[in-house]
Order: sequence, then C-alpha cells, then structure tokens
Amino acid sequence: MLVLLALQASLQVTLALPKDNTQSLGSLRILDTGVGHRSTPVPRWRTSLRNLTTHGTNASILQQFGPEYAPGSPALPIGAVSLAYSPSTSYLYAATGQGIIRTDVDGSNPKLVIPEKPGQIVSVTVAEREGKLYYGTEYEGLIKSADLDGSNIEVVRNISQGINWDGMSSFMPANAYAGGILVDDEKGWLYWSASRALYDGSVLRAPLHSEGQEQVLADGIDMPGQLRLVGDALYWAEKGRWSSSPTAIKWFDLSQLRKPQPQSQPPSLTSPPVAFTTQTVVHSNESAAIFFEQDYTGDKQTLGIQSFVVYRDGVEQKIWFVAQSSGRTMFGKLVEITWRGSGDGRKAVLEVLTGDTKDVGVPVGLEYVS
Ligand SMILES: *[C@@H]1O[C@H](CO)[C@@H](O)[C@H](O)[C@H]1NC(C)=O
Ligand SMILES: *[C@@H]1O[C@H](CO)[C@@H](O)[C@H](O)[C@H]1NC(C)=O
Ligand SMILES: *[C@@H]1O[C@H](CO)[C@@H](O)[C@H](O)[C@H]1NC(C)=O
Ligand SMILES: *[C@@H]1O[C@H](CO)[C@@H](O)[C@H](O)[C@H]1NC(C)=O
Repeated sequence: MLVLLALQASLQVTLALPKDNTQSLGSLRILDTGVGHRSTPVPRWRTSLRNLTTHGTNASILQQFGPEYAPGSPALPIGAVSLAYSPSTSYLYAATGQGIIRTDVDGSNPKLVIPEKPGQIVSVTVAEREGKLYYGTEYEGLIKSADLDGSNIEVVRNISQGINWDGMSSFMPANAYAGGILVDDEKGWLYWSASRALYDGSVLRAPLHSEGQEQVLADGIDMPGQLRLVGDALYWAEKGRWSSSPTAIKWFDLSQLRKPQPQSQPPSLTSPPVAFTTQTVVHSNESAAIFFEQDYTGDKQTLGIQSFVVYRDGVEQKIWFVAQSSGRTMFGKLVEITWRGSGDGRKAVLEVLTGDTKDVGVPVGLEYVS
C-alpha cells in the first residue's frame, strides 16, 4: 500500500513537471510527398504515410501511395500536400496528386475517396460535428465540401477572383485559392489562407453557411499554409516562397474581433486589419541552427514549415512542426516547441526530435493521434 501511494505521488509529480515523460501521449502521423528527382545524391522514394512517437523515435512507414516499384525502374511519387485527421472516425485524409486518399489511423485500407487531377487539391480539413470534408482546389479556386466517404461534393465558396483557363482541362492556378483551410463548425466559420492575387499572403474567414463577406484577419504573410484553431488562438504556418525565404508559425487572438474597434465593421479589403495584432511563436531568423542547412554543393537552404499541430492538456502546451527543403538535397525535420518560465520570462524552447530525412521523408502534413 505504501509503495502504491508513493508511486501515485511520484506520478503526480511527473505530470506536473514542465517536461513530463509523456507516457500517456499518443503518436504522430506524417504525410511525405516523396522524391522524384533524378539528381544525385538524392535517392527517390514514394509518397508515404509515416508514424513515429511524440519523441520522434520509432519512425516507420505505414503506407505508400501510387504505383509500386517496377523492377528496374525508379520509385514514382504521386506527390502530396496536406493531411487531416478525424478523431471521431479515426480516419486520416491525405491530399495527394491523385486526390484525397482516406486510410485507417494505422495507414491500412487506403481508398481514393475524391479522385482529382494532379495539383488540383491543395488543402484538406475535417469538420467533425458536421461529418464533412472541406478542401481547396487550385485550378478552380474553389472551396468544396464532401461527406467523409467522398460523396455529395458541393461548392462551398468560390474564392478564385477569376480563373485562367477556358473551361477545358488546364493546369493554370486560379488567381486565388485556399493554401490552408480550417472549419469551426461549432461557431460557423470557414477559415482559409490565400496566396496570390488580391488576398496574397492573408488569412481570411467567412460565415460557413451563408454568402457573407470575407474578413481579412492577417496579411503580409509569405505563403500562408496550415491553419489550426485552439480556443481563441488561430495559428498559421508561413512557409516562405523561395528556398531562402524566412519561415514562421504565428497566431491571431480572435477575441480581438469581439472588442470594440475604431471601425464599426470588422476588417475587409476596404478597411485593412491595421487595428489587429499577430504574435510570433517561432521565426527562422531566431533559430538558425534548426532552419538553415547546406546542401552538398554548399548552397544554404532554409527549411520551410509545412505543417504543425498544437497539443494542449490541462498542464501544458506543445507544438510539433515539420519543416523541409526540397532543393537538390532533401532535408526534413520534426521539431517540438515547449514553453519554459512564466510571465515575461516565458519563452518558447525548440528541440529537433529528428532531423533524419529517412525518418520523416519530405513532410507536408502532420497530425497528432491520441
Ligand atoms: C507505427 O505503426 C505500427 C503499425 O501499426 C505499430 O506497430 C507501431 O507501434 C507504430 N509506432 C508508433 C511510434 O506509433
Ligand atoms: C520503440 O522502439 C523500442 C526499441 O526498438 C521499443 O522497445 C519500443 O517499444 C518502441 N516503442 C513504440 C511506441 O513503438
Ligand atoms: C468562380 O468564379 C470565377 C470568376 O472569378 C468564374 O469564372 C468561375 O466560373 C466560378 N466557378 C464556379 C464553379 O462557379
Ligand atoms: C529575417 O532575416 C532577413 C535576412 O537577414 C531579413 O531580411 C528579415 O527582415 C528578417 N525578418 C525578421 C522578421 O526578422
């Protein structure tokens, strides 16, 4: 009995420590776009779904997509851009070059639920309460929804601001499209991040089920991507457009929108969001050792943050992110952010959980599975 009590006491202490042993934590899933370069010394590999622990260990490939290796011919990746997890159904949705592929949480039973031409689908998310998928398309500039089995596809919003083709097949991006997408189906908002055209580099939202005007929440972002919402904190990844562009994770406190503003209206294109502030979680300029790598020719590359996931329990918050550079040499990393100290002294601490590209592939999507 005494032993048991002592054990319980030590367990509580362990849980209360800023960095616990995370015995109870789940695991991570990474979507890897694969490598199709011909150049050496880069090996080629297929588009894959991977798992690993929240410590970055025990990485393994759960599933590979697209054509099998044929004898004598190299691996052919189909490419991928985004991963979404549905906790209520335990399905994973991978937006790939063939369309959206659904798998079980262990990668089994892959099924192409929304076939599309390569490059069309650029983002995907799951609305858990509605039981719907939402995704963004590049050539059409649309946001669409579908049931979780891929049926009942509908156009939710046309954000294209004009398309660059004559209605027949084409591979020209629309003037604008949703590089990242998020649905708050509790409060009825659709969020997306837009690159190109009028909304280039902004994070926007609009009512989910009405024609209401979009609001620009943040702008001036260099290739905004993945979005996450935790309480009132809306996070996004700034991927960076070029191999030397800075990259970051930032957030916007949505409670600002409820406070009285100088303008009577929420921000729109005609009233830019000058009154609103954004916060930076991590910026590549401040963590050179993590974000800069030299390839075999000596060229310096900046790894761009492609995806991240926010973990919160009663005690602490963590963010895991994946960053990669797909230049002549592929670099892929999984990094954990924790917070130390309190008040003004509270600061983010970054730790590379694995910097081995063989473990994480060329990561484009990251999910936490409990
Ligand atoms: C990865 O998945 C395999 C197959 O389901 C499983 O055996 C293994 O424990 C998983 N590893 C992690 C770290 O989740
Ligand atoms: C990770 O690998 C180690 C050693 O191979 C093994 O003992 C451990 O059970 C694995 N953990 C998970 C979660 O798969
Ligand atoms: C979306 O809007 C563009 C004009 O910006 C238009 O050309 C296109 O046909 C619209 N697409 C759909 C599916 O309505
Ligand atoms: C990051 O560094 C680049 C190059 O030195 C500089 O141009 C840019 O202003 C910096 N950005 C921030 C936010 O510090």
